[in-house]
Amino acid sequence: MSGSPAPVQIAPSILSADFADLGSAVAAVERGGADLIHVDVMDGHFVPNITIGPPVVQSLKRVTRVPMDVHLMITDPDRYIEAFASAGAAMISVHVEVLPHLHRTVQAIKALGVRAGVVLNPSTPVVALEQIAEDVDYVLVMSVNPGFGGQTFIPRSETKVREVRAALDRSGNRTAPVEVDGGVDLTNVARVVAAGAQIIVAGSAIFHASDPEQATRELKAAAVRARPAPAAAR
Ligand code: DX5
Ligand code: ZN
Repeated sequence: MSGSPAPVQIAPSILSADFADLGSAVAAVERGGADLIHVDVMDGHFVPNITIGPPVVQSLKRVTRVPMDVHLMITDPDRYIEAFASAGAAMISVHVEVLPHLHRTVQAIKALGVRAGVVLNPSTPVVALEQIAEDVDYVLVMSVNPGFGGQTFIPRSETKVREVRAALDRSGNRTAPVEVDGGVDLTNVARVVAAGAQIIVAGSAIFHASDPEQATRELKAAAVRARPAPAAAR
C-alpha cells in the first residue's frame, strides 16, 4: 500500500433536492464535483418517512454520471436488494438493526456485483460490526436518527467514526471506507474527515443552499483540506 491517504468522496443526498427536478439537481452537484449520488430509501416502517423506490433509481441511472449510493432505511431489505441492483445502484447499504442474518445479506449484495455497506444508527454500538467488519465494502455511521434531512449532527458521532475506523482496521479491512450521514456541513466536515470518514453525505447543506453546485464544491474542498496527513514513510 502506498502511504497516501485514501481520497475523500462527497455524496450529495437527493432527499433534500426538488423531487420534481431530480435530473437538474444531480447535474448541478456533479458539476460541483460530487463523487457519488446518495439515495435515501424509506418505507414508513423502519423510519417514519416514505421516499422513493427502484423506479426512481432506474430513471436516475439514465442521467447520473457518478455511481449511486443507495441507503436502505427499510425493515425488509432482503426483499428489495435485487430490484435496486437491477435499477442501477452501485452501492447498497443496509441497517444492522433490522437484519438477523446480516452476513447473508452482505454476501447477497456482493453477489449482485454491488458494493455492500452496513449502517449503524446513533444508538447502535460499534461492537455490532465485530463479526461482519472484514466482509463489508464500507460502513455508514448515522450521525442523526434516520428519517429526515436537515437534522442536527449528533456530536458523539465524531468519536464513533473513529471507533468504526479502528474496528475495520482491527479486522484487517483497511480499505473499506467509513461513510458519515446526517447533519454534515461546513462547520463540522473537517472534524469528521479528521476522525476518519472518507465518504461524506450531505443533503440540506447542499440542496438548501442557494447554489448547490457551489455548495458541493465548497464542502468537497473543506473535506479534502481536512484529510489526515499521510502516515510516516514506511
Ligand atoms: C437521513 C438520511 C440522510 C439525509 C441527510 O435519514 O439518511 O441521508 O438526507 O440529510 P442532511 O445532510 O440534511 O442531514
Ligand atoms: Zn442516507
